[in-house]
Amino acid sequence: MNSKIKNDRLLRALRRQPVDATPVWVMRQAGRYLPEYRKLRKQAGSFLALCKTPDLACEITLQPLRRFDLDAAILFSDILTVPDAMGLGLQIIEKQGPHFETPVRTRADIDRLPVPDPEKDLRYVMDAIRTIKPALADAVPLIGFAGSPWTIATYMVEGGPSKEYALIKGMLYGDPESLHSLLAVVSDAVTVYLNAQISAGVNAVQIFDTWGGLLSQPAYCEFSLQYMQRIVEGLQADANGDKVPVILYSKGCGQMADRIADAGADAVGLDWTVDIGEMRRRVGARVALQGNLDPAVLYAPAEVIRREVAGVLEAFGPHNGHVFNLGHGIQPEVDPESMAVLVDAVHELSRPYHCS
Ligand code: CP3
Repeated sequence: MNSKIKNDRLLRALRRQPVDATPVWVMRQAGRYLPEYRKLRKQAGSFLALCKTPDLACEITLQPLRRFDLDAAILFSDILTVPDAMGLGLQIIEKQGPHFETPVRTRADIDRLPVPDPEKDLRYVMDAIRTIKPALADAVPLIGFAGSPWTIATYMVEGGPSKEYALIKGMLYGDPESLHSLLAVVSDAVTVYLNAQISAGVNAVQIFDTWGGLLSQPAYCEFSLQYMQRIVEGLQADANGDKVPVILYSKGCGQMADRIADAGADAVGLDWTVDIGEMRRRVGARVALQGNLDPAVLYAPAEVIRREVAGVLEAFGPHNGHVFNLGHGIQPEVDPESMAVLVDAVHELSRPYHCS
């Protein structure tokens, strides 16, 4: 494996190889907690304008890397670009979140859904990757991503964020065949989309299954994990013929970590409700683990952030295969200075775990 990435801690950790310090990146590391993000969003007019303009998506991707010693960049985009390209008409409404003009409610709606051609219908994402890669100059790896079919489907059926998820859960128990058809077409769309991201140059991919935790364990396996596994099996190698590492993050599903490991992931993303040390004992060295600091720790003073970082590192222990992250995305109210404290604490406090 001779990756030309200069800081390859993330890729090494995902492959459970030794590193000098634990790599760290943060979900939503580019976003509203950064004043330079808010300024550019205002200038562009909207979040979607940022996503759909490759130069702006590139600029936003790089913003956190200019401030913090992060070990990875993550493509600036959204998981809902895929259903947008399937024709549902995405809007992101300030303070409310995503909204679809034409949600999917009936069998006929599902049967009409196309599998978008990423280089045509999502070309702005591929162009963003092709702009970011030279701008990064191989300093750190670029993470690509997509939503899990289940999580994307919740938005497609509900039409936006939901409290009870009554429509999609009604479909799950009342008309599972239709839900399976929907999940199958979204899986195909996500597979070709991630393969196009790999061709465009991403070095690792994460599948965000934010709503996996809504499901009972059997339903999680049938309606979420099964489709993520299908996607992982359909992923191609990179331009050098190397396997691109995959991180599966199912929020609220720590108890399923060994099943997720069996699905072919290189890493399992954990939220903060589980003990990462116990998870490591359960999955062994089969997969890397990513996580899992409570995002709310970033509201606390520096010494508390350092103490909590130390706790996660100690829980994981002196093993290969840890990628430090929050257990979910960073919140808009966080002081950027707290992010600097976090990143520096991970590097500094993890070194003793990596000396042999
Ligand atoms: O991590 C990164 O820095 C990359 C960018 C990224 C965004 N969304 C930018 C974004 C990523 C990886 C996502 C994934 C995403 N999008 C998920 C899964 C991860 C998670 O957070 O659970 C989900 C469920 C979505 C759907 C989505 N997009 C929601 C629910 C919202 C609104 C809620 C919110 O946080 O405002 C969005 C909009 C969105 N996506 C914003 C950003 C920075 C905020 C838009 C703004 O600037 O107002």
